[in-house]
Amino acid sequence: MTLEQAQEKLKFYGQEHVLKYYGELDDRQKQALLDQIDATDMTQLEFSRHKEDLLVRGVITPLASMQLAEISANKESFTAAGLEAIRAGKVGAVLLAGGMGTRLGSENPKGMYNMGLTRKLYIFQCLINNLMDVVREAGNYVHLFVMTSDKNHDATVKFLTEQRFFGYDSEYVHFFKQEMAVATDYNGKIYMEEKGKMSTSPNGNGGWFISLKRSGLLDLLHEKGIEWLNVFAVDNVLQRIADPCFVGATIERNCSVGAKVVRKNAPDERVGVICLEDGRPSIVEYYDLTQELMDARDENGDPAYYFGVILNYLFRTADLEAMASSLPLHLVEKKIPYLDEDGNLVRPAAPNGYKYENLVLDMIHQLPSCLPYEVVREKEFAPVKNPTGIDSVESARELLRLNGVEL
Ligand code: UTP
Repeated sequence: MTLEQAQEKLKFYGQEHVLKYYGELDDRQKQALLDQIDATDMTQLEFSRHKEDLLVRGVITPLASMQLAEISANKESFTAAGLEAIRAGKVGAVLLAGGMGTRLGSENPKGMYNMGLTRKLYIFQCLINNLMDVVREAGNYVHLFVMTSDKNHDATVKFLTEQRFFGYDSEYVHFFKQEMAVATDYNGKIYMEEKGKMSTSPNGNGGWFISLKRSGLLDLLHEKGIEWLNVFAVDNVLQRIADPCFVGATIERNCSVGAKVVRKNAPDERVGVICLEDGRPSIVEYYDLTQELMDARDENGDPAYYFGVILNYLFRTADLEAMASSLPLHLVEKKIPYLDEDGNLVRPAAPNGYKYENLVLDMIHQLPSCLPYEVVREKEFAPVKNPTGIDSVESARELLRLNGVEL
């Protein structure tokens, strides 16, 4: 792209300020900025001024979850079916580790955070330890696909390699990078992170399948006969991965996707709840949950929307490949480092704009059937989002201890 073409594009989208420092850049930086302008999709920035148009919800009705009693009654057959699929190499796992972990406030990838107190116990290590339980039970390794982003790829690969994948067979670990999106202020003006670079951030965890495909790893899935992918978040240190009983239940119920859910601990807890939307499985985010939905009861008199997702899904890959439409866009308020009027880098203490993200939870609505599968929260849900307080390093450490993990 030439300078003139860049100017034209920026003018069209009202982003001329992006070239403010162009004259100060050397040739290499100039070219890099022109390339970035060329590659950036700016159509979505318009939504910062029409946020209300983004997510128009359909009619919400309850979707029954498979609860603990039913799971326990079928444990043997579900587990046997799950182990059979794992042993046949039909199950892979996808670790979503492309996020920035801004709330945690660590410069390193979140997985490098040390949960230990008397010894080193990194988040990545907790996850691999959990996955190893299944490897031991099944007698074979599970292919693990690790999604990173431009911001943390090198550090993640270096760390896991240095740590020798915490005992996991490296032949079964595959990295791929997610795409990036520009970040803006509340009026949709792109922030600059350097004089020659627009501010970018990972485009949300919903892009994982497209990114996996772009990386060429879909061929590996076909070659290895992987039919199911267990997608999970990096920051739940009690995460059970490729859990045979969950895998078996989803397969036996012939669902396109299984979603692990926990009983909410309060009607207004900040988790997305599983439901039907216009007759298809869906997830309503906590901020879309009206008082009416919070108060609604099912035919047994129990709260109708009481099972929250924990970002642990088992997707049937063939159904993902057949998925036609693109995912809705979410504007997420975040703290975005930027260059001020004088060209100095500012790291804001409070949110100052939007990142533009697709979310994995929206994939559920594009699939014909979903099995919400209840798990015991104290055993499987210890999210590390903040340094202290709710969903924090502190609360997750407490839960690790409760589950007998030495810190
Ligand atoms: P969060 O939504 O908690 O985001 O991610 P985050 O970036 O880790 O943390 P904050 O909000 O900045 O504090 C939930 C999961 O989705 C992954 C994260 O790595 C985490 O496993 N994720 C998030 C991605 O892989 N890519 C993204 O673009 C965003």
